[in-house]
Amino acid sequence: MEKVKIAILGFGNVGTGVWKILLENKKEIMKRSNYEIEVTKILVKDINKKRDIAVAPGILTNNIDDIINDESIKIVVELIGGCSEAKDYMIRAMKSKKHIVTANKLAIANWSKELFKIADTENVLFYYEASVAGGIPIIREINESLTANRIEQIVGIINGTTNYILSKMTLDGSSFDEALKEAQDKGYAEADPTSDVDGYDAVYKLAIMSSLAFGTEVDHDCIYREGIRNISAVDIEYAKKFGYTIKLLAIAKEINNKLELRVHPTLIPSTHPMANVNDVYNSIMIKGNAVGELMLYGKGAGDLPTGSAVVGDIISILRNNIKPVDLTETSCTVEFKEVKKARENESEFYIRLDFKDKEGVLGDTANIFGENNVSIVSITQDVERGDHSSLAFITHKSEEKNIRNSLNKIIQLDSVNNVESIIRIESFN
Ligand code: HSE
Repeated sequence: MEKVKIAILGFGNVGTGVWKILLENKKEIMKRSNYEIEVTKILVKDINKKRDIAVAPGILTNNIDDIINDESIKIVVELIGGCSEAKDYMIRAMKSKKHIVTANKLAIANWSKELFKIADTENVLFYYEASVAGGIPIIREINESLTANRIEQIVGIINGTTNYILSKMTLDGSSFDEALKEAQDKGYAEADPTSDVDGYDAVYKLAIMSSLAFGTEVDHDCIYREGIRNISAVDIEYAKKFGYTIKLLAIAKEINNKLELRVHPTLIPSTHPMANVNDVYNSIMIKGNAVGELMLYGKGAGDLPTGSAVVGDIISILRNNIKPVDLTETSCTVEFKEVKKARENESEFYIRLDFKDKEGVLGDTANIFGENNVSIVSITQDVERGDHSSLAFITHKSEEKNIRNSLNKIIQLDSVNNVESIIRIESFN
């Protein structure tokens, strides 16, 4: 069987996962790809670092030129992660006629146009399945399996760290800080958790999925973003009372040729299957105009799940016989689609006010909502300490600007102390 030499850039969690899969599933991979894969070089920062995995001498290098200048290496697997160094290495590798597999969502979300163009010019393949939702084969699903459809919407739990935190808060009654600490202790959250808890990671992943699904270039800066830091135990309890569970959702919808793109904490019906996606698991629901609704569920991170996506991409390249091929899969055919401003988006809302329990407050509040075309579905009130009470509302579907206009007036009522929470609801209609 013909041998193919590949190089891996980065030997952290995912890199070692790829190594383990190539070893463990060697026979199956040979059968399916028709090649024997040999990892000849692995780029690391420190060659002498103590590692759990024994690698033959000479494989580890800290010099990228050892890989770029080696003509026998046909595929470069980039697993360094989100930095311009990774982008630079991928470009140099493509210019040396090497195919690329990457898990780098930051690089794809920021520089896909440039990277795909170089792949096109150099006639090499560029695969990035592992950049979104780890082991869930979502890129291939959109690019291959669903090409007969017009995609109408994608709704997903695509960040495992925040899903772990929210699951802990919902199921165990932990506070945000306790759940975050636990996620950090288990290695699910970084010491600086900003990228996950403030929603950036999900925004990058949503930008990649929606560009492919809607055939347009999505600038991740155009995606509305809200993280989970302000979610409190009180809101989780109210959500339960109303029959909802709080999840960080990434939502992309095409409505009248305009895109609605947002990442934010969301109340979803507790009876929906996505409400039971817990721990670090991810799930993505796609609605196509022919297929209807599809739901994928699996591990969105981790050495073997993400490694599974990476090795799958390597095999795809090998199945193309590593010869120059038509690059329809990586070339972007783009059509401009406008992204709606957040104020124009429509959804149902959960709103919680802190108020002084006086006569007329409920009537005044309801009147202001009514004057601003916001219709209320349900209200619940809890008397708390002193002159602090909670009033929680669920609205019918409303434009976000009507909600904002209402709340700007409601906050001016003498009896209203504060607007504590505004959380959107997704009913999957
Ligand atoms: N930090 C990400 C998550 C994993 O929690 O889902 C890699 O994208």
